Amino acid sequence: MNTPFEPYRIKMVEPIRTTTRHERQQALQQVHYNLFRLPAELVMIDLLTDSGTGAMSAEQWAALMRGDESYAGSASWQRLEATARHITGMPYILPAHQGRAAEKVLCQALLQPGQVVLSNTLFDTTRAHIEASGASGVDLPCLEAADPALEAPFKGNMDLSALEEQLRTLGDRVGLVIVTVTNNSGGGQPVSLDNLRAVAEIARQYRVPFFIDACRFAENAYFIQRRAPGQSGRSVADIAREMFDLADGFTFSAKKDGLVNIGGLLGLRDPELMERACAALILNEGFTSYGGLAGRDLEAMSVGLREVLDPDYLRYRIESTGFLAERLHAAGVPVLRPSGGHAVYIDARAFLPHLPPGHFPGQSLAAELYLEGGVRSCEIGTVMFGEHARWDLVRLALPRRVYTVSHLLYVAETVAEVYARRSSLRGYRITEAPQMLRHFSAHFEPI
Ligand code: F0G
Repeated sequence: MNTPFEPYRIKMVEPIRTTTRHERQQALQQVHYNLFRLPAELVMIDLLTDSGTGAMSAEQWAALMRGDESYAGSASWQRLEATARHITGMPYILPAHQGRAAEKVLCQALLQPGQVVLSNTLFDTTRAHIEASGASGVDLPCLEAADPALEAPFKGNMDLSALEEQLRTLGDRVGLVIVTVTNNSGGGQPVSLDNLRAVAEIARQYRVPFFIDACRFAENAYFIQRRAPGQSGRSVADIAREMFDLADGFTFSAKKDGLVNIGGLLGLRDPELMERACAALILNEGFTSYGGLAGRDLEAMSVGLREVLDPDYLRYRIESTGFLAERLHAAGVPVLRPSGGHAVYIDARAFLPHLPPGHFPGQSLAAELYLEGGVRSCEIGTVMFGEHARWDLVRLALPRRVYTVSHLLYVAETVAEVYARRSSLRGYRITEAPQMLRHFSAHFEPI
């Protein structure tokens, strides 16, 4: 069977308004071609992010009613803590309102000014918190990651010889090694168990704490089950547990593989670090039994963490991303290979070879996909990273359990329509932009 089977039926629907091309043209002009500024009701298919945009299950909605809103000792927190301990094996678990809050607490509790953090690829909020602590981050992706067309099973891996080399040269200055699973900024590509084992071993030799940015831990574990020799007989939960067993701790945005709209976690093994993290958490997020969340949010996360390891859910999840990628590939559209877990990434430089990076090919393509079909995507390239951008990608991130196969077919058709007239697409220039994080609010105009 080639049709992805959604392992759910729809119990409640949220209408999508059909917009006209003329409306979309006007909306684009009004928001100065910046898709972050679009009112969501004018978006027909929203693939801006997979973060916090998923649908909760009937069980999760039911669990909300059990939410214990006690400030301290909440039963909801105790249930979530037990679930997170069971899945990860980490003795110390702290709640946070989202992933970046857990990152902030970790960086404040662990890092010193002048230290260096080594990673396969840091997500931008992680890097920002590292820098806010006076430390700096270095990305060491594996060599295969550099070629968008190369088919390799674990392009999210860390470059092991570069890691050793950095540890040898920097010595005590390295404060943390953190591996992002799956590697979001590197195309949603998974990290292999062998790579995680080797990174853990090297970090241990140099006595540097090894953490996992576990946002998409279940998707990563599923890829290991499907792609790594000898792993197909193991459950995803078992593989995920081995991933966590290798680490000294983890940060987690539950807005991804927690299957909730808001929430995060920090997991730790070291009691002294836990003490410092508790102090930072109470200052920034709230008491250790709620971390900036309501009791009902903790309940929903506890259920979501169990649902995300369901084999039917994960098969559907990864198959539907692959389905969209294959449709685009078959239509000749240059997409990052192989397809990642949570998103399909279009190579905008290859899609629009007549536009130099300075004319923002990713921005041009993203604006056109909106105009053509009301599809909102996200530029990850020269707009986001300036002239340091390694590539210009347009990310089509799939919210969890939200869209159906016919929605995906509609997206594929939209992209194919734009591809057919790609040579007519124009570049953009920025007319107004803030100093930092310009992609959220910059104004553009077509050249
Ligand atoms: N780490 C990774 C790998 C992420 O992808 C994200 C968020 C975070 C940390 C931060 O988590 O948003 O809960 O604070 N990624 C979203 C995205 C925003 O669109 O990829 P958060």
